[in-house]
Amino acid sequence: MVGATGRTGRLLVKKLSKRGYSVRALARDPAKAKILFGGIAPIYRGDLQKIETLTKPVRGVRAVVCAAGGVHFGGSEGPKYVDYLGVANLVEVVREFQVGHFVLISSVGVSKPFHSMNLFGKVLKWKRRGEEALRESGLSYTIIRPGGLLDEEGGVTTKLYSARGTSLMG
Ligand SMILES: NC(=O)c1ccc[n+]([C@@H]2O[C@H](COP(=O)([O-])OP(=O)(O)OC[C@H]3O[C@@H](n4cnc5c(N)ncnc54)[C@H](OP(=O)(O)O)[C@@H]3O)[C@@H](O)[C@H]2O)c1
Repeated sequence: MVGATGRTGRLLVKKLSKRGYSVRALARDPAKAKILFGGIAPIYRGDLQKIETLTKPVRGVRAVVCAAGGVHFGGSEGPKYVDYLGVANLVEVVREFQVGHFVLISSVGVSKPFHSMNLFGKVLKWKRRGEEALRESGLSYTIIRPGGLLDEEGGVTTKLYSARGTSLMG
């Protein structure tokens, strides 16, 4: 799980572990991850911007989930360097190790250049480029484009799926 310490990533690590999956948590700050996960998932130090840190956590896994996201006006930690170039680094490593599937959490609105979210560090533009790196990789993948995420029970929103090469929304 890349972005394991984020709001979405931490839920995924816990839920997948509870369902019996063996999950590796990749974190820039292992101490933060240790507080979140204790012993439920092995923690690997890694940074999407440092491709050499991605090989150890990725080697030998069946699937990679990327729930990482850059800081909207984060300069070198912003969407260009995380959501595009960082994701492209991850795609390269996943290809090298022939991982079976890549799940990328992107965002609603990425296909709309004038979407208001693009006012925030061009986040959607860079997310789109990250998606393209994955689509062009030849890997098996799923791209999820959520709207605003709430940590509460579902049931009031519509589920839409982006299957391989097919965008159903945004
Ligand atoms: N939340 C929403 O409403 C919403 C809506 C649409 C789309 N999305 C997308 O869904 C995904 C998850 O969102 P979220 O709200 O859960 O994100 P979040 O809470 O902001 O977490 C972002 C995660 O990315 C990690 N990260 C940032 N830069 C990294 C790097 N260079 N290398 C490795 N990890 C890095 C962060 O690690 P640190 O803990 O070390 O900072 C953190 O774990 C993101 O792609 C986001 O854009 C979210």
